[in-house]
Amino acid sequence: MFDLIVKNATLPDGRTGVDIACAGGKIAAVEPGVTAEAAEVIDAGGLLVSPPFVDPHFHMDATLSLGNPRLNVSGTLLEGIALWGELKPLQSIDEIVERALRYCDLAVAQGIGAIRSHVDVCDDELKGVQALLEVRRQVKGYLDLQLVAFPQDGVLRDPAALENLTRALDMGVDVVGGIPHFERTMRAGAESVRLLCEIAEKRGLMVDMHCDETDDPLSRHIETLAFETQRLGLQGRVTGSHLTSMHSMDNYYVSKLIPLMVEAQVHAIPNPLINIMLQGRHDTYPKRRGQTRVRELRDAGITVGFGADCVMDPWYSLGRADMLDVAHMALHAGQLSSRQDMGWCFDAVTANSAAIIGLDGYGLDKGCAANMVLLQARDPIEAIRLRPARLAVVRAGKVIARSDRQVSELALAGRPSRVDPANYAPMGSDGR
Ligand code: FE2
Repeated sequence: MFDLIVKNATLPDGRTGVDIACAGGKIAAVEPGVTAEAAEVIDAGGLLVSPPFVDPHFHMDATLSLGNPRLNVSGTLLEGIALWGELKPLQSIDEIVERALRYCDLAVAQGIGAIRSHVDVCDDELKGVQALLEVRRQVKGYLDLQLVAFPQDGVLRDPAALENLTRALDMGVDVVGGIPHFERTMRAGAESVRLLCEIAEKRGLMVDMHCDETDDPLSRHIETLAFETQRLGLQGRVTGSHLTSMHSMDNYYVSKLIPLMVEAQVHAIPNPLINIMLQGRHDTYPKRRGQTRVRELRDAGITVGFGADCVMDPWYSLGRADMLDVAHMALHAGQLSSRQDMGWCFDAVTANSAAIIGLDGYGLDKGCAANMVLLQARDPIEAIRLRPARLAVVRAGKVIARSDRQVSELALAGRPSRVDPANYAPMGSDGR
């Protein structure tokens, strides 16, 4: 007797007709033709069942605050940081908790199972930290929330930031963050990277820095991050987020830099929606797009995951907790248009991001956590193309969110009466 069987699923690796049986919160069988009884049976009808989406880079302390106390007029990163500085003293812990919980509701409905959120530690009350530690506790049963101590105003530039970051880690924040390109000088940026990596090494923690989120091709803190990772033996535990300056760097320099990153086993998290929106604001035409060198990083063997970063906050007005929106933008901005590349974009919002944040028991193999999402699409490429309904979201073998199948009624003489987007393959081929 199983708790749940999802029958006739297509898996992201292309297997079809698979039944997934769940018991005791784990996946007990993944094979065709499971016949045992179950408390609940879902017929996937040949549609895609994926492990949950994973957002490896988000700001949950700022989400859903759009318009408070005003809007970002210039659309730049720097006005966003200034605006956030205006909001911070005005908001209460309860308000941050309420906004974050609402966002988590949306995220779960969209099939997100884990989020790494940065939390600003640059306020002496640590309101964001207190709030998100409480949120982490409250959502534990349905969402894995990992927190990064993020010194938004610069760990050296803000005189209280280092002490506040240390306090945040003492309170239970999981990962060490940083923002070297926002420190006062290149030298201070490099010093901040050294300092923060040493803190992570002493505490046995992972590192995830906002790194070189700028169009300045000479912003090269990722080089220092890779160096410190190796010097301190942090290989595999360090991530560079954004890395947008790499878009504008000299090709010769990049030919040296990427192998250094590979040696250090540094991971990369581009944030396509935000990078495309915020970067290139000082350009006329042609306007640079800020997305880092995704293809080159991936081809060199670096683990790349895509993050959502912001939803309705001082930096970004849009967003709906949909990691398929994120993959869709990454695919276009990175011209990742081959079948293989598009399939890989799905990995970048699922398995790759799970690996970067160190999620245990992730996947659809026997013994993994029984967490998954049923999509109204036949395969990962179609999922990115359609960004379809999440028909069922499963956590620990229980359905925690459901959506109706998206179907339109059509009233055209001589034409079909119903349109289901997942039934529209190219004519004359299956499109794969
Ligand atoms: Fe960010």
